[in-house]
Amino acid sequence: LAKNNSSTPKLRRSDFPEDFVFGSATSAYQIEGAAHEDGRGPSIWDTFSEKYPERINDGSNGSVADDSYHLYKEDVALLHQIGFNAYRFSISWSRILPRGNLKGGINQAGIDYYNNLINELLSKGIKPFVTIFHWDTPQSLEDAYGGFLGAKVVNDFRDYADICFKNFGDRVKHWMTLNEPLAVVQQGYVAGGLAPGRCSKFTNPNCTGGDGATEPYIVGHNLILAHGAAVKVYREKYKASQKGQVGIALNAGWYLPYTESAEDRLAVARVMAFTIDYFLEPLVTGKYPVDMVNNVKGGRLPTFTAKQSKMLKGSYDFIGINYYSSAYAKDVPCSNENVTLFSDPCASVTGEREGVPIGPKAASDWILIYPKGIRDLLLYAKYKFKDPVMYITENGRDEFNTGKIFLNDGDRIDYYARHLEMVRDAISIGANVKGFFAWSLLDNFEWVNGYTVRFGLVYVDFKDGCKRYPKKSADWFKKFLNQKKNS
Ligand code: BG6
Repeated sequence: LAKNNSSTPKLRRSDFPEDFVFGSATSAYQIEGAAHEDGRGPSIWDTFSEKYPERINDGSNGSVADDSYHLYKEDVALLHQIGFNAYRFSISWSRILPRGNLKGGINQAGIDYYNNLINELLSKGIKPFVTIFHWDTPQSLEDAYGGFLGAKVVNDFRDYADICFKNFGDRVKHWMTLNEPLAVVQQGYVAGGLAPGRCSKFTNPNCTGGDGATEPYIVGHNLILAHGAAVKVYREKYKASQKGQVGIALNAGWYLPYTESAEDRLAVARVMAFTIDYFLEPLVTGKYPVDMVNNVKGGRLPTFTAKQSKMLKGSYDFIGINYYSSAYAKDVPCSNENVTLFSDPCASVTGEREGVPIGPKAASDWILIYPKGIRDLLLYAKYKFKDPVMYITENGRDEFNTGKIFLNDGDRIDYYARHLEMVRDAISIGANVKGFFAWSLLDNFEWVNGYTVRFGLVYVDFKDGCKRYPKKSADWFKKFLNQKKNS
């Protein structure tokens, strides 16, 4: 197998179970383009990128992106050439329901687009893994009741999910309700870097709208309930006939104690409570993590009714984990901004210790490369949360967009080899991991980063009709996936 450099680990396909799923992931707003075509309604991402171009590194947007709306057959051909047997993509809510709800009518052209994509995938033996919501709330729902700030979103999301199950569930057997609810909450309602761009004055003094203290918890709560309502509808109406599985994709970092002190170890536990456990604990037990209940002061953490807890408990068939990076957690004097802070008030997170980063930086400086984190996170979820079926639904690193065609991405090969090696180890220790998705198939619109960084296995020339060129990493996956048994 081609190696990037002498220290890149050598991996064998046969190190993973035969039925292990290998795929690549994308999301609708990041790749589709055709933002104003065929009846698609506007989403909060159309509005956010127009209203706050200064919050996107190159002031760009996803109106054209990779033009996958028109070029989807090429994308499927690429997946097939690489040898992936699964593709994780998301459905654009406002392409299906231009006004977000049933009253505004269903857009048949949207249904047709996803039917065509799914059929194309299946014709090449590629399983669709479909995310129902990857951050693009319909603008009409934002206007009507504040999108995920409004309790009404739960039923509107449930109805939208119902339409997806009804139209695509005969062929789609793996669903994820939400992508990274934590990122929505933190970036959309605390830092303001993601749509709808609401934030707290503490994180961004220029911020207008948002309080970064009460809103994030309301949004988190509605996201969790929306997930639960969608799973309920699937189980009641579709599960028996369609026999599919519904999960969620959670972003999670892994945290090491800054020092070996008991205080820093407890800080790690609290940071986990405010990140992965925030969404996993309610799905497993029907309750928020105890550290959140104790430390979110001022009555800001909503509570689940008995009926809601019952709906949430066990509301998943699998857990998707998006892992990129790790950091240190440290016990610190409790913040005076106790009442306004979003996170544990007595813990802080840092990427380095005495000037030494936990791992090398990718292009995005939030990615510090620490492959062991993926193994430890999988084992953490296994032991803490009743040994769930898990998928790595995203993993990857980026390079800067230099404006020149760049295919020689040895650093990406190294990243994948090291992370897959750790996934293999987690499986050998007993983690129930069923598949792995690389982020991303294509260079795309990377939210805050616009087109300034590239995560793709396939290079996209945005200046030349979105022409696609597989990078070396695509070739590496191809060789890895096509290895003969025992080679
Ligand atoms: C994940 C998201 O958090 O990270 C993806 O699910 C995103 O949609 C990826 O593209 C990379 O993040 P970023 O912010 O660097 O584009």
